Amino acid sequence: MIRRTSIRRAVWAATSSALVLVAAGCGLHDDEKPLNTLAPKGKQADEIYSLVTPVFLVAGVVFVLVMGAALYLAIRYRRRKDDVDGVDEPIQRHGNTPLEWGWTILPALVLAVLAIGNVKTIWTLENDQRDAPMEVEVIGQQWWWEFRYDVDGDRKPDVITANQLVIPAGTTVRLAIQSNDVIHSFWIPMLSGKKDAVPGRTHHWAITAAEPGIFQGQCTEFCGLSHAYMRMEVKALSQADYDKWIEHQMAAPEEPSAGSEAEAGKQVFFTKCASCHQVNGYDDTGKKLDTHQPNGDYRGAQHPLIAGNAPNLTHIMSRDKFAGNMFQLYEDGAKLEGVLPEGDPNAGTLGSWLRNPPGMKPMNADANRGMPNLQLPEDEIRKLVAYLTLLK
Ligand code: CUA
Repeated sequence: MIRRTSIRRAVWAATSSALVLVAAGCGLHDDEKPLNTLAPKGKQADEIYSLVTPVFLVAGVVFVLVMGAALYLAIRYRRRKDDVDGVDEPIQRHGNTPLEWGWTILPALVLAVLAIGNVKTIWTLENDQRDAPMEVEVIGQQWWWEFRYDVDGDRKPDVITANQLVIPAGTTVRLAIQSNDVIHSFWIPMLSGKKDAVPGRTHHWAITAAEPGIFQGQCTEFCGLSHAYMRMEVKALSQADYDKWIEHQMAAPEEPSAGSEAEAGKQVFFTKCASCHQVNGYDDTGKKLDTHQPNGDYRGAQHPLIAGNAPNLTHIMSRDKFAGNMFQLYEDGAKLEGVLPEGDPNAGTLGSWLRNPPGMKPMNADANRGMPNLQLPEDEIRKLVAYLTLLK
């Protein structure tokens, strides 16, 4: 008796805590559920959502019928108090041809009907990416995302950014998704489905944001230590703002003034950071080049990182987060409505990161995966922060 009570109690506890969790999830606002697949905000997400609804309905009907039948049979034919073993048992049968045909054909028919909608959606998504008027290269890296824009059509990147993919709202963008190391998966649930980034391949995928806004994403293929810390976001701007953004990205950032702490930071940058990170307009020794184009071929064999490179920092402060979109670049989060984020630079977090990157995000820098701890002295950290926060 005691055992039965405790089992019943455990079942109640489990059921009620599951319900509380479900209810808590339902009560959240949209902006508290950044990875909500049920709140489509663009053409491809709409297409997928309008497949989800009928599939969920069909699956729901099947679920209710099967569970209902199982429950009914379990109750109707339960063992009663006065049942005698071997006497009051149901008839034991083996083989019933009509029944077996029935439960083979019926599910096959249901699946065939669902397949029509599925295949149609896959084709639609495929056509979306083929007909897209613009393309951005997306490169998965351990553990952040790189975005490359070829603005003038010469098949060389003119803008290279990280973590935040900026697109014009209302325009379908084809993503050419690649990986520089292991398999990752690109996923902005409010805008489109998932697409794997596989080394040696290019996968095309379409995304559209109907309206300007910020849409969060998360790498969804286990890719090593910091997989869960590999996030990204899409910032959709009006076409006019997007054009301004591109123009801004193609221009040089502010130069530190002579004798300033930022200028000293620039020296440190080109001594200690530039073998992995790029600031356009300079070679990796800090010599000024006569072009402001990023060097698109810097994923070279002599590169010290297995990932091949590190985020391009030319306009780091034009983004709102860093290190796989994990940490705020602006104190209390940036204001994000305009072309560029606004707010006070988050010198504290940036400094902590420079002090010990693997302490803030699991990485294996000994195996050249992720950013190593460079054992920077405090004065160099201060100078670097002064330089980096200037790069807007
Ligand atoms: Cu990249 Cu998981």
